[in-house]
Amino acid sequence: MLPVLPVLASLFPSVFAAQPAAPAPISAPLRDLEYGQLNFLHTTDTHGWLAGHLSEPSYSADWGDYISFSTRIREKVEAQGQDLLVIDTGDRVEGSGLYDSSEPKGIYLSEILRHQHIDVITSGNHELYQKNTSINELLTTVTNFRGHYLASNIDIYHPVTQELVPLAPRYKKFTTKLQGIRVVAFGFLFNFNGNYNNTIVQPVEETIQEEWFQEAIQDKEVDLFLIAGHVPAHSPEYRAIFRAIRKAHWATPIQFFAGHQHIRDYAKYDSKAYALASGRFMETIGFMSIDGLSTSTRPSAGSGPVFKRRYIDNNLFSFYHHTGLDEESFPTEEGLSVSQLIANARSALQLDVVYGCAPQNLWMSRVPYPHPDSVYTWLESEVLATSLKDESRGDTPTVAIMNTGGIRFDIFKGQFTRDTVWTISPFSNKFRYVKDVPYDKVQLIMEVLNKQTKIFSELSEETLDNLASPDQQEHIEHVLKAGNEDPSLRMNGDSLHQVPLSKRSDGTSIIPGYVTQDDAGSDGDDTIHSPIKMYQVPNCIQAHIAGNATTAPGTVDFVYIEFIEPFLVLAGKYADLNVDFVKDSEVYMSGVSMTDVIINWVEKNWECE
Ligand SMILES: *[C@@H]1O[C@H](CO)[C@@H](O)[C@H](O)[C@H]1NC(C)=O
Ligand SMILES: *[C@@H]1O[C@H](CO)[C@@H](O)[C@H](O)[C@H]1NC(C)=O
Ligand SMILES: *[C@@H]1O[C@H](CO)[C@@H](O)[C@H](O)[C@H]1NC(C)=O
Repeated sequence: MLPVLPVLASLFPSVFAAQPAAPAPISAPLRDLEYGQLNFLHTTDTHGWLAGHLSEPSYSADWGDYISFSTRIREKVEAQGQDLLVIDTGDRVEGSGLYDSSEPKGIYLSEILRHQHIDVITSGNHELYQKNTSINELLTTVTNFRGHYLASNIDIYHPVTQELVPLAPRYKKFTTKLQGIRVVAFGFLFNFNGNYNNTIVQPVEETIQEEWFQEAIQDKEVDLFLIAGHVPAHSPEYRAIFRAIRKAHWATPIQFFAGHQHIRDYAKYDSKAYALASGRFMETIGFMSIDGLSTSTRPSAGSGPVFKRRYIDNNLFSFYHHTGLDEESFPTEEGLSVSQLIANARSALQLDVVYGCAPQNLWMSRVPYPHPDSVYTWLESEVLATSLKDESRGDTPTVAIMNTGGIRFDIFKGQFTRDTVWTISPFSNKFRYVKDVPYDKVQLIMEVLNKQTKIFSELSEETLDNLASPDQQEHIEHVLKAGNEDPSLRMNGDSLHQVPLSKRSDGTSIIPGYVTQDDAGSDGDDTIHSPIKMYQVPNCIQAHIAGNATTAPGTVDFVYIEFIEPFLVLAGKYADLNVDFVKDSEVYMSGVSMTDVIINWVEKNWECE
């Protein structure tokens, strides 16, 4: 990694289009894009990763590069008389330092985001968890993308008038610039009910009964229905919309854009209706093309529409390849200035402050648990075991438990920065504890939380899955649905850069990364990767802090991360533990959060050379 100053970057703009600290992409064999009358680029679940991935070459392009890319693709398709539409389907907020570490959150992010031209943009669930986040969405993002932001099933209490109003227009009809394709577009959110009460999410099945929706789909002058949504590609919600439209139009093409599951996915509803999901965290730019559509002036070609999809790895090597340009000709002025804006924001937020240097990669699910390279093994046996100590408890033997979902990303060998902290642990969870809990009861609770014991009741599987990271939940569900063999061993995601590369005869390399299986087969990824193994990890892990003080035999201080208290209340019942976790627990290590514990440990233990 070159420590390049922003000043240098602006002297040699074309060389440093990605973030200065970003690794150079690695050349790899690529599948081309196949264009059609109408083309799309799609992002979803970016969660603030607009700086790209600074530790992973496969995903090292930033939002500025994406702006250049979409501009160049638009130039290219328009030169052929075709059209391009750019789509984003939500969860733009929460999950990286660029969003979370400003006060108020997101001030830099909104400003960076708005420079991209987006034709249809929608809200995810993360935009709605907190009152001020959804208000910010209404006042800033909806305003910045006026005419493009759609909210078919979200209402919000307006902060000034207190009136319940649509977050954005329900739908829109427009005609594409060059082809004259008449599009009716909607913007949906899945049936989400974890939102704060200043917004109302109407279940999709109810929305499609509404008069305005029925009227919109009765329109006869339509060449394509476009449904952008923070909704899984394979979902009851999209199936319901598909059925409703098919009732009114048995053959009009329908294109869905999907999100929320953090996966690459492509669903076939019928030969004229498809859904594309484009991953997460700025790892993937989804590409779609449709050919053979009717237009305002021409009936469709006899053979009916042809749909093509591609998942583009978000790096400059892919971008140069698909545009046929190079580091001189690729970047646009707007793209470069947005890369600079991101660099300035990262610098103002001090995201490059270094706490230490990780001596190795630590994975969430690329190795089994426990394992010397598992981030969870590291947490329980090194970080928690040596850091948790409440002075008032002396040397009381202690067991501390946390949920694996408290960690959100892998740790890469090399600099461990403030940005790393925000990406791996964006929550401000603190610790609580209960005294004198029998050790065997703690173990029983762990078994319940990790579903190693059969229990019936409110503690449904689904509830417990909330303890794992969302990617872990979604990937497993997806793999199981796809009928893949062993759910504990799964193929998927992220590329890995510190592995030997196998050179091919054309000089390119096969690097580990996405190998996507979807309804159209296994040729969707632009970059040909070798697959990465993924392992299922438990919902919760535990650290033992051996003491030597005299406590009742066989009892321990039971320390836990506060997020899991509601789960302990339930699990405690099944372990027959007579403890009221809400009343009987006390603060442990007052004022210290999980994030503080990790930072302190790294500062003490991971020196940089
Ligand atoms: C919402 O409020 C919290 C707590 O005051 C604050 O930390 C956060 O920055 C606010 N978020 C936004 C988007 O304004
Ligand atoms: C929304 O929740 C808050 C508590 O967080 C409560 O005070 C308020 O009355 C609720 N509003 C509505 C409309 O239910
Ligand atoms: C308990 O452990 C501390 C160090 O953690 C040690 O100084 C002390 O001597 C030990 N006490 C007993 C009774 O073993």
